[in-house]
Amino acid sequence: MEHWDHYWLNRKTVTSFANSGYDTGYAGQLAQFWQDTFAGLAGSAVMLDLGCGNGALSLLALRSGKASTILAVDFAAIDPCQLFADDHVLLTELKQISFHPSCKMEALPFAEHHVDLAISQFGFEYSDITQSLPELFRVLQPNGKAVLLCHDAASEISLLCKAGITVLNELLKKGSLIDQLIDYAVRFAKTDAVQLDARREYNKKLIMAFQQYRMGLNDMQASFFNDIIGPFVSLMSNQSELNVCDFEHLKKQLGFELTRIADQVQAAYSIQDIRRFNDHAVKAGFNADIHPFTLNNLPFAWAITLKRT
Ligand SMILES: C[S@@+](CC[C@H](N)C(=O)[O-])C[C@H]1O[C@@H](n2cnc3c(N)ncnc32)[C@H](O)[C@@H]1O
Repeated sequence: MEHWDHYWLNRKTVTSFANSGYDTGYAGQLAQFWQDTFAGLAGSAVMLDLGCGNGALSLLALRSGKASTILAVDFAAIDPCQLFADDHVLLTELKQISFHPSCKMEALPFAEHHVDLAISQFGFEYSDITQSLPELFRVLQPNGKAVLLCHDAASEISLLCKAGITVLNELLKKGSLIDQLIDYAVRFAKTDAVQLDARREYNKKLIMAFQQYRMGLNDMQASFFNDIIGPFVSLMSNQSELNVCDFEHLKKQLGFELTRIADQVQAAYSIQDIRRFNDHAVKAGFNADIHPFTLNNLPFAWAITLKRT
């Protein structure tokens, strides 16, 4: 979980898709899906957001005005109120959500029949469904339901994560480009006038190595590579002293990023996973309605509605 702890405590974003333009919250067709879900409610509902992260979906639920209580659980050590302590408007909203950090959805700290609507945006699929489905059944009230949007293994997000895994595995190998960057920082940590030419030469050599490496990548991998190498290039361009710790910190972050996107790929559902999910849902006592959710006509997620029978 350290990779998610690190993500939620250090990135000023309410979603796990900060790179996709959703850092301030879900918008467009995705937000509309959830607004339609909330619109069908009578009001004063007890809602439960499963795998809530920094609260993007809980915030949409709050803004719908249909919830009396919003419970939000995540296994990571989330602390959105602390992270957004300087954003008065957002903080006021976040304080109305009851966040439960370090809480597994396989063992929820709520009484049975306590919840009217359980929701999850890219959260439920990370759980062990043999435990989380019966647990969900336990906390839902008899007429309650769950609406879940789960990663589709064929989505662009999944493909991009796979491309990222290939690139990061390569770059984090011992002696690869990232280690060469650290070596550069160590050598020229204190560049005096005499060393300046040597540093420029090494700098040029590294940039050429980046370009050569990029030429062997496909478009998706190259786009991922550009995103991760950018911060290193900024550090390299620093005309004053190079700080080795800054380079090592970026490398450590890449390690977390690799674990996080590998987690995401592992969590995504293929059509076979969906069949298995359906079987477990029925076994737990639900009526399941599952269909593909597309964005711009491309696979994006599985929309799953579970009704308690
Ligand atoms: C892709 S993030 C989604 C977060 C959020 N719903 C959003 O839309 O931004 C998946 C989250 O599921 C959480 N998670 C993974 N396994 C879990 C479990 N068994 N119980 C509760 N949360 C879990 C992770 O910590 C992570 O924050």
